Amino acid sequence: MSHKIAPSILSADFLNLQSDIEMINRSEADWIHCDVMDGVFVPNISFGFPIIKQVSKIAKKPLDVHLMIADPNPYIEAVKDAGAYMMNVHYETCPHLHRTISAIREAGMKAGVTLNPHTPVSVLEDILQDIDMVLLMTVNPGFGGQKFIGHSLTKVRKLREMIDSRNLKTLIEVDGGVNMETGKQLVDAGADVLVAGNFVFASDNPVETIHKLKSIV
Ligand code: DX5
Ligand code: ZN
Repeated sequence: MSHKIAPSILSADFLNLQSDIEMINRSEADWIHCDVMDGVFVPNISFGFPIIKQVSKIAKKPLDVHLMIADPNPYIEAVKDAGAYMMNVHYETCPHLHRTISAIREAGMKAGVTLNPHTPVSVLEDILQDIDMVLLMTVNPGFGGQKFIGHSLTKVRKLREMIDSRNLKTLIEVDGGVNMETGKQLVDAGADVLVAGNFVFASDNPVETIHKLKSIV
């Protein structure tokens, strides 16, 4: 199965968000990645649930919601209500991760666990079988347009091995600094889903850029 592409609307034109969502609808993108930041867990504030809910009304692709907030637990119903398909919470923000994952699934969403660049994949040893996806940050979360952290490739390879050796179907998503070069390295290392913000939205032809990312072999 070919890898998925999830354009991140953090880099979209918020004065013309509808036209950017319609661009994604027309493209070969698989999901729409929505970054929620609270200015506490990460040093930036983005957008919240009312915006995601509006996006969900016109989106023809599933919404992949990435919560960079200090405590995502009180917002599980709000994320579901906003139209999320996948809810990604950071490992670093959830001391009772198994409880959080169960609540996300009970709410009717897929559950993803996100790791910051410094968090080893080994922490997932006893939760991997219970989650739908691991989102590996390949930059420090908070901003679009940052430089890819090369060591991420080692993490992707290790995680691929952990998943395959247990015959699990858990997806590996990568987020930050994805372009044609890093995208190819990540797919080769075993990534299933590429998030791309700046590389897509700063390009002259975003539909074509999404096509090129999707065509990586
Ligand atoms: C960063 C966000 C990313 C961001 C990626 O904290 O989680 O989803 O939009 O942006 P690029 O692809 O520009 O690095
Ligand atoms: Zn993200």
